[in-house]
This record gives sequence, structure tokens and C-alpha cells, in this order.
Amino acid sequence: MKQAIGIFDSGVGGLSLVPAIQERLPHEDIVYIADHGFFPYGEKSTEAVFARAKEITAELVQHNCKLILVACNTVTTQVIDELRKAYPLPFVGIEPAIKPAAATTKTGVVGVLATKGTFKSALYHQTIAQHASKIKVVEQVGEGLVEMVENDQGETEENLEVLHTLTAPLLDQGMDTLLLGCTHYPFLAPSLKKILPETVKIIDNSPAVAKQIERLLPLNTSTSKGKIRYYTTGEKKSWRGISFTALPL
Ligand code: DGL
Repeated sequence: MKQAIGIFDSGVGGLSLVPAIQERLPHEDIVYIADHGFFPYGEKSTEAVFARAKEITAELVQHNCKLILVACNTVTTQVIDELRKAYPLPFVGIEPAIKPAAATTKTGVVGVLATKGTFKSALYHQTIAQHASKIKVVEQVGEGLVEMVENDQGETEENLEVLHTLTAPLLDQGMDTLLLGCTHYPFLAPSLKKILPETVKIIDNSPAVAKQIERLLPLNTSTSKGKIRYYTTGEKKSWRGISFTALPL
């Protein structure tokens, strides 16, 4: 395998970014680590998240990765700068798309669904101060949503009810744009679209992430189709037809 793009998240969430990357960079190999052994990240302390993110990055470096995509808002917003200082590799991260949302909202109210870890981060608050001073940002912790995606039991009445309960307070405050500030949540977008009014726009920032990876990648002259390998730090697992190989960490 040639040098690859290394991707990690606490679980399957980061897979929501993979189609945009494969579309833009079809010749790149990918090594994906789902850190189920340390799942979920959203409730952990910043110190614990940093220590773990360094371990996973070291593992990806062992797998011959040339760039790391931190496919997790919780890690990006809390510790991506520290990761950049710790490893001489290009890092790309993902954070709630506040800037484009602030530019396109008509009601001036943007809803953000994210983890506790993202909401407590300095980067998230800096981004709001920088790009959202003229709009109202309403926040909701997506309690139970990462587990819902990992368990993947389909669109049950119960799941729709949870999504309804979480988004109703945001709608009450006038939100017309919803940011899915956790990479697990785009897998719930079809259900969210069912329960939200058509006027609410959900912003997909995966194409922007793929574009940023392309900008930072060293030149790749390969013309063969990129391969992808999936690992989990938990027990061997299969999710939506993808088999993850266990990686003891
Ligand atoms: N998917 C991650 C994120 O983007 C973290 C979910 C979790 O483990 O809490 O924030």
C-alpha cells in the first residue's frame, strides 16, 4: 500500500466524510481507525482526549500515513493545535460550519447539535466570536445520538422521538439552519429531514474537508483506484456492510 490518508474518530462517525474524500481524491489510499475502545469522546476530559488522539495518530503514522484527518469535531475543537505541535505531519480537522451558516441564515438563528466536548472547547467559542457576532447561535447537546448511530437499528419511532425532542427547542427559537457538529450525526440526516420543516437547511461540510485535504496533500501520481482499510480498537465489528479489523490498542 502506498502512503495513505489516515482518518480517525471515536467510532463510525468519521465515515460520513469518506464519500466526499473518495470523490475528490479517488486515487488515495485510506486507513481508517474507529476508536471504539475509547468511545465516546464527547464526555471525556480534554486531557484524556488529547492523550488518546496522540496514541491513535502514532498508530496511523505506523501505518504509513502522510496526512491525518481528525474526523471528529470533539477532538478537532479541543486539541488539533496540540496534535499539530506533536507531529510533523499535515492535519485536517472538522468543526461546526458556523461561518457558512452565519452567511446564509435568513432568520439569523443557527442551531448547533454537538457533543459536550465540542461546546466546551475554546476553538468553538472563538469561531462564534469571529463569525457569528451578528446572529444567534442556539446549542443542543446530542444526548444519545452517537450511540444511536453506532447501534444502527434503523429509523424507529423511538429514534424519531429522540430527534424531535432534541430539535424542538432549536425550532422554537427560530432556527432555519442546523449544523451537525459531530461526524456521527450526518447518518441521522435522512431522519432529521423527515421531522424538521422543509425550510430548515442542514449544511454538509464534508466537501470542504475533502478540498482542504487536497490542498495539503503531497502530489500523488498514482492512477490506480485508492484502497481503504478499516480498523477498530474495540472488538471486531461490522457496520452497514463494512468489516473492521480489530487493532489492539
Ligand atoms: N464523532 C465525534 C465528533 O465528531 C465524537 C462522538 C463521540 O465519541 O462522542 O464529535
